[in-house]
Amino acid sequence: MLLNIKNLTKRFGGLTAVSKVTFGIERGEIIGIFGPNGSGKTTTLSLIAGILKPSSGEIIWKDHDISALTPFQVAQQGLVKTFQNPQLFPELTVAEHMRIACHLHVKRALGVGRLRTLFGKSMTGDLENTLTRKIDQMLELCRLYKHRNDEAGALSYGGEKMLGVAMGMVCDPELLLLDEPASGLGHDEISNLDAVLRDLRTHGVTLCIIDHKVGFLGRLADRSIALHHGAIIASGTTADVLANDAVVTAYLGKKHA
Ligand SMILES: Nc1ncnc2c1ncn2[C@@H]1O[C@H](COP(=O)(O)OP(=O)(O)OP(=O)(O)O)[C@@H](O)[C@H]1O
Ligand SMILES: [Mg+2]
Repeated sequence: MLLNIKNLTKRFGGLTAVSKVTFGIERGEIIGIFGPNGSGKTTTLSLIAGILKPSSGEIIWKDHDISALTPFQVAQQGLVKTFQNPQLFPELTVAEHMRIACHLHVKRALGVGRLRTLFGKSMTGDLENTLTRKIDQMLELCRLYKHRNDEAGALSYGGEKMLGVAMGMVCDPELLLLDEPASGLGHDEISNLDAVLRDLRTHGVTLCIIDHKVGFLGRLADRSIALHHGAIIASGTTADVLANDAVVTAYLGKKHA
């Protein structure tokens, strides 16, 4: 098992946002996380990525508990999370955003946090070439290469979200955690996203994806869990989870289910 979550719990004061969540992810899988608004999906991924600290429970990554690590250390271990809304700099280009996301590589290569080296001349030719190649490759993979010199402010919303995915990918994740990558996208953008995510899997990346779009994630995810009030109410094949009575009721309410 690549990732093993055991009894993961997060309390915010009197509110239990995530309650004794237990599940595992195997290498190469695409795992879906469903659940109505406020059911604890984002909190669960933020706990895994080290952005939030659990109140209790374990997050075991390749046999080691990573629940005390910082987000940067977690990313170094190969777990990277994208955000529901990527916070981009409108005046920086797509390629410049990718350079910022590369600072993990630079840190690894140089052993220090010299962000300046990303834009300055102090980077060695080898490192410069490696980063440029990597950035181009990821932009190709995410269908953004033709936009590499466009300012982020000129991208469509789908393009912005895709840049968020590409920035995550340039950190070389083994497991990419995606928070609602399809929300706000039109039909064609969703088809594009679907194709990109399948390509990422082919490139060996394991994916864990939150989304409300049953058509999109229902087709994509091999297995899924469904959360309600912070607890898992169903898990198994995605088709079974989506047909589960408790899941349908959680989404639609008793009356409509
Ligand atoms: N930092 C925080 N402080 C206090 N409460 C929080 C915090 N973050 C989340 N919550 C609460 O925890 C619960 C779960 O929130 P979370 O964002 O994980 O839900 P979600 O399933 O991602 O919802 P959505 O589908 O709307 O994105 C909600 O009741 C939310 O208000
Ligand atoms: Mg959320």
